[in-house]
Amino acid sequence: MIKIEGLSHYYKVRAGAKRNTGNGDRADTEMALKNIDLQVRKGERLVLLGSSGAGKSTLLRCINLSIYPTEGRIHIDGTEITTLPVKEVKDIRRQIGVISQHFNLLEGASALKNVLLGRLGYTGTIPSVLGRFSEEDSAIAIDALKRVGLEEYLDKRVSDLSGGQKQRVAIARAMSQRSTIILADEPVSSLDPKLMKEVMDLIQEICIEHNITLVASLHFLELAKSYATRMVGLRDGEIVFDNTPDELTDKDIIDIYGETEDWVLYGKRGF
Ligand SMILES: Nc1ncnc2c1ncn2[C@@H]1O[C@H](COP(=O)(O)OP(=O)(O)OP(=O)(O)O)[C@@H](O)[C@H]1O
Ligand SMILES: [Mg+2]
Repeated sequence: MIKIEGLSHYYKVRAGAKRNTGNGDRADTEMALKNIDLQVRKGERLVLLGSSGAGKSTLLRCINLSIYPTEGRIHIDGTEITTLPVKEVKDIRRQIGVISQHFNLLEGASALKNVLLGRLGYTGTIPSVLGRFSEEDSAIAIDALKRVGLEEYLDKRVSDLSGGQKQRVAIARAMSQRSTIILADEPVSSLDPKLMKEVMDLIQEICIEHNITLVASLHFLELAKSYATRMVGLRDGEIVFDNTPDELTDKDIIDIYGETEDWVLYGKRGF
């Protein structure tokens, strides 16, 4: 489903702003990912773990080419996307839903409008610019909002919704896109622990119902363990763990987070 080969990413940094990460970085660059090889199978729920700065967000952004990797290839469903013309990349992106800690919603627009935006890739440019969507698009968007329990909130402005409700709108948007892949960067980090579980339950249910491949970053270990079918630990831009949650040992946790207080912070024994 997703095949990543030899993926490296270096961010350009301002001269003088560079810190020495000891990773053999280029002079004016920040190494975020180093030679990553990873294959994600259809229907897997892969959780990325790692301390702050380990490269989780960078990897997620590379998968849908929100940022182009400096080196390496990414294949989605057998198509190498890293060399595709922009127009065709757009077609691929259509099937990739994105959920993030910051919701990435249009705060001033209604829940329904936000979910309809998930249909954009399926609508000609002119109707979408004018804000007109087909009845079919509207029906799909309304169904998705019902599925996430927001049927009462279709016309409510996103800015008037709670954090948990906002994240449900983002999930509904990914559903209305008919996503085959969902990339979720810390999808529950801005929610309280009870909502974290509710939103993760919903993401998991929807992934199972539609056989969606999930790649998510999660900060809390216990949360990650209970939703992942596979866990990948990143440290300084490299994969240091790749296995099922059952196989994650205390030693692996130290390999991922280092001998720091990080792994206590991220809840070795829960949160
Ligand atoms: N836009 C950017 N420009 C320069 N360097 C960046 C940029 N974004 C990230 N980096 C650097 O790349 C490395 C990886 O960052 P990334 O955001 O992928 O980490 P992360 O694992 O998502 O961390 P967090 O848990 O804090 O979200 C870090 O060293 C970071 O400082
Ligand atoms: Mg991040």
